[in-house]
Amino acid sequence: MGKILVTGGAGYIGSHTAVELLDAGKEIVIIDNFSNSKPDVLENIKKITNKDFKFYEIDYSDREKLEKVFEENEIESVLNFAGYKAVGESVKKPIEYYTNNISGCLVLLDTMRKYGCKKFIFSSSATVYGDPEIVPLTEECKIGGVTNPYGATKLFIEQILCDLYDSDNTWDICILRYFNPVGAHESGLIGEEPQGIPNNLMPYIVRVASGQLEKLSVFGDDYDTHDGTGVRDYIHVVDLAKGHVKALEKLDKEKEGIFIYNLGTGVGYSVLDMVKAFEIATEKEVPYVITERREGDIATCYSDASKAKRELGWIAEKSLEDMCKDSWRYIERQLK
Ligand code: UD1
Repeated sequence: MGKILVTGGAGYIGSHTAVELLDAGKEIVIIDNFSNSKPDVLENIKKITNKDFKFYEIDYSDREKLEKVFEENEIESVLNFAGYKAVGESVKKPIEYYTNNISGCLVLLDTMRKYGCKKFIFSSSATVYGDPEIVPLTEECKIGGVTNPYGATKLFIEQILCDLYDSDNTWDICILRYFNPVGAHESGLIGEEPQGIPNNLMPYIVRVASGQLEKLSVFGDDYDTHDGTGVRDYIHVVDLAKGHVKALEKLDKEKEGIFIYNLGTGVGYSVLDMVKAFEIATEKEVPYVITERREGDIATCYSDASKAKRELGWIAEKSLEDMCKDSWRYIERQLK
């Protein structure tokens, strides 16, 4: 059995997926340059799973070093988590985002091709749907209309992967469109660690609950939603990680092809729903104030996740309470 290369395996989604792959008995190799993660994550993955893996501290766009990884290991498939993901930062640093996310991914794909490894799972995002015309979003919905360089990198790489498959249909490619990943591993050992002041809702809520930040700004309460605040499809990161294992199993079973799946719960919650759920689950207070809308935000976005259920046998199992409790547990441990 060949090995699975996990790029960005020390990051938030990469580390949770590494755990699920190891738990499923797969052999993995992780590469990471720790640009947005810390080395102790690797030890914690080992602690959780009681399994070992090879690790290389390299940048995935460093062709020479990447080739060495392929030389030294029989890599059969690749899961790519080595992308920058902060929307606001991408607006300020478009060159860095396009270089890391797109050029890096091209180096990776080119190296895979050189070594005859053609199984690839790509972390895309619901952001590729832009401002949805209808919800729930199915994989057939129109894509485009992204509002920032981060979103553009996801859209462009999807296109690159479709072109790559058209040029050589011996590739096996799976594009996973994540909705809003939140939560952490229930051990509290790995989780999300945004640098600086968080942009995303859940990391912000936990910092308010812990007293590190004073109050949450709720960006607008005049959207056309049940309480006026933005509605999203929050998905527990462990469910998301399990979706990757299922996707990989599909690629292993299927003949070649390119497949696209939404990974979401199919349920939308508003900002205020999230605040309430968090307060109930953790018995912590989350003071908030209603402010202006955030530029580029949309009212409602949630998935139709039935294709993944039908074709991968995957379904998100964790509850909103789990998402809140697990996010909190991780931060509590960090504060100790
Ligand atoms: C954002 C990105 C999306 C990316 C995703 C990664 C934008 C426009 N979109 O999605 O491209 O894939 O993160 O997880 O940035 N909110 C507040 N107060 C806050 C933070 C958020 O009210 O301090 C609200 C937002 O207005 C939104 C909801 O919470 O209604 C979720 O926001 P967020 O967690 O940033 O995710 P998205 O905007 O959905």
